[in-house]
Amino acid sequence: VHKIMAQPITFVPPLPAPLDWSTFGNANVKKFIDNAIRVCQPKDVAIFDGSVEEYHRICDMCEMSGMFMALNPYLYPRSYLIRSHPGDTARSEARTFVCGPMNEKLYQVPLSAIPKDLGFGYGCRAGESVSGSKDAELNTEQMRELLYHEFTGCMAGRTMWIVPFSMGPLNSEFCKLGIEISDSPYVVAHMYTMARTGIEVLKRLSAPNAYFLPCWHSVGLPLTPGEKDVPWPCRKENNRKFIAHFTTADPSCPEMGPYSVMSIGSGYGGNALLGKKCYALRIASRMAAFEPVKWMAEHMLILHVRHTPKGAPAKDYFLTGAFPSACGKTNLAMVEVPREFADEWKVTCLGDDIAWIRMDTQGRLCALNPEAGFFGVAPGTSNESNGNAMAAMRAGNTLFTNVGVTRDGDVWWKGKSPEMPEHLIDWHGVPVETHGLDKEALSKLQNTIAQPNSRYTTPCVQCPSVDPLWNAGEGVPIDAFLFGGRRRSLTPLVFRCPDWEDGVLTGATLRSEQTAAADRPEGSLFFDPMAMRPFIGYNMGKYFDHWLEMGRLAPNHPDIYCVNWFRRAKEGKKDFLWAGFGQNFRVLRWICELAQAKRDGRPLPQANTLGLVPTCQDLLLDREGVHVGPLPAGMTAPKPMGCSCILEVTPTDPEWHQELLDERAFLDLLGSDLSEG
Ligand code: GTP
Ligand code: MN
Ligand code: MN
Repeated sequence: VHKIMAQPITFVPPLPAPLDWSTFGNANVKKFIDNAIRVCQPKDVAIFDGSVEEYHRICDMCEMSGMFMALNPYLYPRSYLIRSHPGDTARSEARTFVCGPMNEKLYQVPLSAIPKDLGFGYGCRAGESVSGSKDAELNTEQMRELLYHEFTGCMAGRTMWIVPFSMGPLNSEFCKLGIEISDSPYVVAHMYTMARTGIEVLKRLSAPNAYFLPCWHSVGLPLTPGEKDVPWPCRKENNRKFIAHFTTADPSCPEMGPYSVMSIGSGYGGNALLGKKCYALRIASRMAAFEPVKWMAEHMLILHVRHTPKGAPAKDYFLTGAFPSACGKTNLAMVEVPREFADEWKVTCLGDDIAWIRMDTQGRLCALNPEAGFFGVAPGTSNESNGNAMAAMRAGNTLFTNVGVTRDGDVWWKGKSPEMPEHLIDWHGVPVETHGLDKEALSKLQNTIAQPNSRYTTPCVQCPSVDPLWNAGEGVPIDAFLFGGRRRSLTPLVFRCPDWEDGVLTGATLRSEQTAAADRPEGSLFFDPMAMRPFIGYNMGKYFDHWLEMGRLAPNHPDIYCVNWFRRAKEGKKDFLWAGFGQNFRVLRWICELAQAKRDGRPLPQANTLGLVPTCQDLLLDREGVHVGPLPAGMTAPKPMGCSCILEVTPTDPEWHQELLDERAFLDLLGSDLSEG
């Protein structure tokens, strides 16, 4: 209900009666807040009531302080540009700690012993030794002591915001509550869009036994009296940042349960919006495996395909997909059906990053997006590549971080338009000088306008392709799970795993190429099991076991597929062989047709050793990649989409042999944590 209020176009319910603050929260809420105030010593304290008025007040306040810059309201109504500190632009994996019970480790071997060329040597766990990081050698209780020490007096001179929030709709079995305390108004404004906040959450927290996750966040930069603040407060030294997850009870308040998150020193993204990666993935993945009723928390998009054949009733399919960061989840979630299919087919979006999954009474696995907004990568997003995301941004209420801005208050990043506009200011706030530059220099310059991990934050409801069920408390029954990474060779465009166990193995050994952003050679491979490597909140072997168990518990579990949009030519220009984006719909369509065959009890085609790979015909392409079949009136055949070689699998290729050896070496790291299954 409260989310509707962010929408100027939707019905606005009457304002709730003013809340009696003295009655807010049960005994644990009061205890958590009292303790946080005592430790952090803020200048003052504010409870965020989640109303649109309060959100706008915070944005206005940030505009006056210089942190937010209003964009042109005719282009992006009520939207702002924010520039972070240049050292605070992404998740800090090496400063992320999961502090579990003693002796519980992520892998059998110490992280430092994992060969770097397996691409797996980061993501610290308390109690484990990581090269160069003394903190990682502390055990859980020492780590907690360290964090309490870091938080002591950390909010001096600043306002502490108390943000009660819900992940998932309140009327849902999936719903999980949290309270984030933060001294960053940027974080509060983002929580308003990304999570569900508001009076109903506050009321819920007054129930005597209401559970919430205590989430501590601070930029970690106290102000002395009279000291002038900086535009983006954070800790400049990386080793003074901590994103710590605790999964054992705090001895000073055991009644609050085993879980808490304490994050200090960073104000950006997954480091600071604690409902997202910290709660909805790391803590939730552990809750999901350890609660009596088992469920799953995954790094997945959720989409809905509706097929309405002429003169027949509509058929609905729900798919989810786990691809590592920057491998296309947001783009696939909002995919536009190509014109040649648009008469009968429609794709709508339920989520672009996180799926919580529970079994229903029919033994199906049902997915729900616990978030309420999109936090999407800006570079590469355009009307052509993702028109739905662009329209969602233009609907207003969008916060842009670290993108470029034009003289007339428009935003810009590489790929937003083919030509770079004149009079740009880059993400550092420096005017861009283009005068006298040649074509090559101009093209290079484009990469520096926005930070590579610059993002837009916008409410889900504003996406034109948002699914009517995106907010439905019971989730949607999943027909297929997709795993996918960036692979220049070997793995074909798509294959269907023969069964659940094989699919789990395929997900567990998911590999993807390093993108240009990181410090390893571009194209080098790293393992990213289920796209969850940075987000698994407990032992990785146990996590794989949990996947196997969910398949056994849910008799009508989804089929598992593996996709790869990124195969390249071996010779010549080495471009991508597959056009991707909208054309990925051909793969979705094939998956839905197989789902329908299964529903109808029809036999499936013969599979090869890897699994079932479609023919060109299955994708409605000829061997050269030209569309076959009728086209809408007035439409000419589109240019080739790819060719038969993206579907080729050559088991005798020595690269496959090496692939299997690498997979074995990776799984051996888990040693006896891995069950026989
Ligand atoms: P996170 O939000 O970090 O978890 O990443 P994501 O999985 O949502 O990735 P996103 O959809 O933002 O895409 C990342 C990059 O992949 C962008 O540069 C896209 O342009 C590119 N991309 C997405 N889909 C395709 C595709 O089908 N083909 C090709 N060639 N590139 C794609
Ligand atoms: Mn995304
Ligand atoms: Mn993500």
